[in-house]
Amino acid sequence: GDALRVALAGLGTVGGGVIRLLDTNRDLITRRAGRPIEIVAVSARDRTKDRGVDLSRFAWVDDTASLASYPDADVVVELIGGSDGPALTLARTALDAGRGFVTANKAMLAHHGLELAQKAEAANAALKFEAAVAGGIPVIKGLREGAAANAIARVYGILNGTCNFILSKMEAEGRDFAEVLAEAQALGYAEADPSFDIDGVDAAHKLSILAAIAFGTQPAFGDVAIGGVRHVLAADIAQAASLGYRVRLVGVAEEGAGGLFQRVHPHLVPLDHPLAHVTGSTNAVVAEGNFVGRLLFQGAGAGDGPTASAVVADLIDIARGEYGASFAMPAHELIPAGKADSGER
Ligand code: HSE
Repeated sequence: GDALRVALAGLGTVGGGVIRLLDTNRDLITRRAGRPIEIVAVSARDRTKDRGVDLSRFAWVDDTASLASYPDADVVVELIGGSDGPALTLARTALDAGRGFVTANKAMLAHHGLELAQKAEAANAALKFEAAVAGGIPVIKGLREGAAANAIARVYGILNGTCNFILSKMEAEGRDFAEVLAEAQALGYAEADPSFDIDGVDAAHKLSILAAIAFGTQPAFGDVAIGGVRHVLAADIAQAASLGYRVRLVGVAEEGAGGLFQRVHPHLVPLDHPLAHVTGSTNAVVAEGNFVGRLLFQGAGAGDGPTASAVVADLIDIARGEYGASFAMPAHELIPAGKADSGER
């Protein structure tokens, strides 16, 4: 069939990964998608930078915003990042124009997810974001599709690889936070503003997206209580270990009497819980469904390969015409997070 034509904004680690993945697995992807997936245009800040991939076969667009109206593009892939600014402008204009929109931008979805989902529905366009939460782990698909029939009691997990690397290293080597921070940043997984990682903001972005899907709430970053790992000492970790616990930065969303509680904080995790054994930059998500029971999703939460894997999976869905409501139910059905209460539903 006709190719799915993609306009790609952002050529950092993940953007390069998407190009490499589409090149490497071209035939397989064409067969699974039922038609080729072709990048037709790209845009990034610096045209001259060497990204190790051949860009000469794509049209170069200087003004990123105009990718939204690039002739004949079916889908815009946004890998720029940032909750507002060029990424949000691109999302709004692409969806208003009825183009599909695929993004890894958790900050933007945490702040503007409802608006974007409404736009996508109004235009009957796809808005997909598997890569935004836990990188390569198909946890959005897992909750949105695989567990779609369940009432979810609780969703929680390790959602920031930088913090998990830091905590693992502090424990294994008995070193303090400040000493291992630079090593974590050298992984290349840190956010543009690394305080988003270590202060729990990045994990909170991701949690608010998971919570929206699991509980049918509007994504509401402002409702997440947030703490980070800055003040965790090697001595705290050693003390926890002597009591049979590991320290992990865990994001938790669960329904309580007062509505939906969403929080990200360092937690004591008992050694007999799977999250205690998630080490290094790995991510893991647990969801408890009333019919399926406890699900555990684990894998790489960042990096070019895993994140590109999630982006291209979304493109394959769109190529097949298989996509539904972005947050698992129509946007008008999503209720304010503070109102969530299992007694009401
Ligand atoms: N900064 C994030 C992390 C990258 O460390 O997990 C993936 O979203």
